[in-house]
Amino acid sequence: MPDATLLDQVKDFANRANPYPVYAKLRVDPVSRQEDGTESGTWVAATHGTIASLLQDPRVSSNTLPPADRPRTGNPLTDLIVKPLKDWMMDRHRVFIFRDPPDHDVLRASVMHQFSRERIQAMRVRSERLVADLLDEKRDAREIDAVDDLAYPLPVTVICELFGVPREDEPKFHGWATQLATALEPDSLSDREIRDANSRTFDAIGGYMADLIKEKRKHPQDDMLSGLANEATPEGAKMGDYDLIATSILMLVAGHETTVNLITNGLLTLLRHPDELERLRQDPGRAPRLIEELLRYEPPVQFRTRKTLSAIDIAGVTIPESADLVLLLASGNRDAAVFPDPDRFDPDRTGTRHLGFGGSLHYCVGAPLARFEAEAALTALAKRLKAPRLIEDPPPYRSGAALRGPEHLRVAIDGIV
Ligand code: HEM
Repeated sequence: MPDATLLDQVKDFANRANPYPVYAKLRVDPVSRQEDGTESGTWVAATHGTIASLLQDPRVSSNTLPPADRPRTGNPLTDLIVKPLKDWMMDRHRVFIFRDPPDHDVLRASVMHQFSRERIQAMRVRSERLVADLLDEKRDAREIDAVDDLAYPLPVTVICELFGVPREDEPKFHGWATQLATALEPDSLSDREIRDANSRTFDAIGGYMADLIKEKRKHPQDDMLSGLANEATPEGAKMGDYDLIATSILMLVAGHETTVNLITNGLLTLLRHPDELERLRQDPGRAPRLIEELLRYEPPVQFRTRKTLSAIDIAGVTIPESADLVLLLASGNRDAAVFPDPDRFDPDRTGTRHLGFGGSLHYCVGAPLARFEAEAALTALAKRLKAPRLIEDPPPYRSGAALRGPEHLRVAIDGIV
């Protein structure tokens, strides 16, 4: 058996609670080739400079998905004609996080157009109310699970309300989103079983969204989906049905799988730094800088994958054409060349240029919303939890290496004020 590469160690669940020492080893070479059994290998960019440069390089593609390969139906006619047509229409390749310009830019612009300042501001107020209600429900508890009791329900409700998904359907999104988030894990692309499960989930959520879009066309309301379905895009045309379905799915999945981790990584970090928790309790105005530091120090999205469209010379190496790339955002965030004393959690850092929301063309669309939600959650937790103590440290982690965060975060308390 060949030795485990550093990239294998990144993916290894044994390192999930603390992957940072492996990242430090990877940073010794700004860009390194990791053996993966293929001729070109997988190339990992681990320093801030190389990641930032590759994020904006037009020779780097976001389209890392293999060709559509849904499970066959067994009926030759369906498999030959109907299915390929349906796959082409209802294809996860239409999800714009996996697309390149110009298609990516057109779809993204449509979403940005609907993601108005007023809408985001309204969700800020709503997030504060939701956090207050969720904590009120646990008022007499002596223990909370920060994931189940707050960090998970908050973003699900926020993104569903923003999109006008009826409240009774919110629970469906838990399972769908958790399954589809695995598409961001590198090994899911080579694992046929995971790909099949993702295809089936994509069909299920796609069917649901198609019905909801019809409803929003008949009875438009003041929500993002009604806006996307009925209003012209900035380019003047309405978004096509299948792009609309894929884009809604992207927003609904991206909108909560990541924010959950920012809130739980945030509470975990604060409980490990009680002085910072106390400072936040005394002064909620510290929340924005604290959240920026969290996005650097414990980013919910640890890495993203890409493919090269042509050979690229960078940091003394040549990455060949059609090579798989891993942009190790969380490692760039610990690069001492940009962040002095990088392993120290220090919300008073200035001029932070963290990569927690990515960068360039694919910079996170939901960044303002995620910041507000985390701010609402963490300030309320700091203010209202009486004598919070971690029950397990490290807590159990979810399986994902790319979307990394605790599965549960049990905290003992003396009550909630
Ligand atoms: C893209 C992180 C919350 C929607 C991204 C990317 C990162 C990221 C790193 C870049 C992906 C790439 O370069 O391939 C996060 C984190 C979040 C968060 C850490 C929470 C703490 C949200 C929310 C939404 C959202 C709340 C939606 C409401 C998106 C979308 C993209 C994206 C649509 C794709 C942008 C594009 O391809 O142009 N996010 N995200 N994200 N995010 Fe977020």
